[in-house]
Amino acid sequence: MYYPEELVEEIRTKNDIVEVISGYVKLTRKGSSYWGLCPFHNEKSPSFHVIGDRQMYHCFGCGAGGNVFTFLMNYENYSFQEAIKVLADRAGVSLPEVEYSEEMRRRENRRARLMEVNKEAAKFFYYQLRTPHGEIGYRYLKKRELSDETMKKFGLGYAGKNGGELVGYLRSKGFEDDLIKEAGVANFTERSGLISQFWNRVMFPIQDINHKVIGFGGRVMGDGEPKYLNSPETPVFDKRRNLYGLNFARTARAGNMILCEGYMDVIAMHQAGFTQAVASLGTAFTAEQANILHRYTDNVLLAYDSDGPGVKAALRGIGILREAGLTGKVINMQPYKDPDEFIKNLGREAFQKRIDEAENSFFFEIRMLERDYDLKDPDSKTRFHREIAKKLCGFSEAVERENYLRAIAEKYHIVSEDLRRLVNSAAAQTGLARPVVRPKSGVQSKSSAQDNEKRNQRLLITWLVDMPSLYGKVSRYLSPRDFTEELYRKAAERLFPELEKGKVNPAGIISMFEEEEEQREVSSLFHAGLPQLNTEAEKEKAFKDILMAVKKSSYEFYTSRLGSDVEALKQAIDGKKALEELAKTHISLN
Ligand code: GTP
Ligand code: MN
Repeated sequence: MYYPEELVEEIRTKNDIVEVISGYVKLTRKGSSYWGLCPFHNEKSPSFHVIGDRQMYHCFGCGAGGNVFTFLMNYENYSFQEAIKVLADRAGVSLPEVEYSEEMRRRENRRARLMEVNKEAAKFFYYQLRTPHGEIGYRYLKKRELSDETMKKFGLGYAGKNGGELVGYLRSKGFEDDLIKEAGVANFTERSGLISQFWNRVMFPIQDINHKVIGFGGRVMGDGEPKYLNSPETPVFDKRRNLYGLNFARTARAGNMILCEGYMDVIAMHQAGFTQAVASLGTAFTAEQANILHRYTDNVLLAYDSDGPGVKAALRGIGILREAGLTGKVINMQPYKDPDEFIKNLGREAFQKRIDEAENSFFFEIRMLERDYDLKDPDSKTRFHREIAKKLCGFSEAVERENYLRAIAEKYHIVSEDLRRLVNSAAAQTGLARPVVRPKSGVQSKSSAQDNEKRNQRLLITWLVDMPSLYGKVSRYLSPRDFTEELYRKAAERLFPELEKGKVNPAGIISMFEEEEEQREVSSLFHAGLPQLNTEAEKEKAFKDILMAVKKSSYEFYTSRLGSDVEALKQAIDGKKALEELAKTHISLN
């Protein structure tokens, strides 16, 4: 922890969550809480809930939730440190620098310094483009039909013929050589010492969602190799978790996001008004990037190159989108190579039309598959149909599978009955796809039994937070150790003493965890969807079932560890006793 807990708590309590979130989301009061459109996913009716009493928010649509810190971390992409600073500032709390641990301060400072180097380098390139010296770069961008305004918006720049100039400039700003190197804008060489690898290129600064420069892509002017040169990964430049253009696209609210391959494509689309366009960073599209897009939309349109590698990348991208629970569609760029060329030749209306006509990603996959077969040859045709059947097995939901089956049968003139038979025999061989389990956190769950246990543990904690008076009635049967999920156990270790004292503060518990993923998961503990029950008896039964289920899996957990864990024996014995007693005990809710 970088700051003492009391200070974190002071800052949190001095920033009312309703006020802070109101600065970002239009909230409407209903009873004792507030509702609005969730800023973390696309929706038309409000499922985003802010509870003033508890100083927490929760979205019933996408599961986002947390306290005032996590809100800013998610909305502004701040680190915990940055959120603390902003909110301390807002509440007029001064932060004692000395409270940083030495190690943390070094790391934070280093990151801040690396960002500064990137920012200064971007300024240098930007300035160069606008001097007579950089006219060649400016003319190149003009030839590619970028307006001055677009160049400014994207902070485009130019790296001149001499890679030493940038280094000289950065040194004059007081940056040390090893820092400049670590920022990824220069390398040590035998011949010239520290020198930038970026020269004779137009420069595309890559920004995080707060518009901070974290790296660069540089395009050679003309036909040199490599065509694009990108900054290496650095402590501030994570290529798997950033997307070019997202700093603008995140507020486009177009109802979809367009994913493409190139920086120039993103810029051309934005210039034409499609500000929802983003690109991966010179590397293949990743699952992390898909999850990031999912915060903003459920629909992703692929605008990949129409050539062979582009199609391959699109097919790969479709799979990644599907895994992340996103709907993918493919924009047809023919007869042009990429969105940049398409828009240049046919204009924005034609591109809009292609967006509207984007092809369902499954149809696209089948159409691409078809190219490998000769449908005039009966053997080949049969193999094609079998391959389709195999792909249809990928739909876990029967209705969806059937709908696709009919659509494809019609499209490819196959008798539905025949295709259904093929699907059944393919399923007999390989099995139908099981529903994809999508954990909200990055932690991959191992099985649905384990998911169930986790859910029960979450529900139990939510019950206790919602009705703290229950704690006294069950505390002798229950300990934090019953939460076999380590993170939950830690949360319970914080929560139980508070329940003991009758002062429950879940929003405070969240910020005791450092990692964003942990905070997200812990905050889900306080919002597990409790069943809507009417009668007192139903509620009592539901609570007791959950309690018993948690105790039972805890008992099984420790029993399976007998012999390997010294604590296990005691836990197992106590657990057995508690279960027996609980079975005979009635727990009333009031
Ligand atoms: P233009 O020719 O400028 O229109 O570029 P493009 O966007 O059409 O480029 P292309 O389709 O060739 O490449 C798409 C993206 O892949 C670029 O924006 C880069 O991020 C990346 N890329 C292209 N060429 C290279 C290369 O030689 N090295 C690396 N590391 N990345 C490249
Ligand atoms: Mn291009």
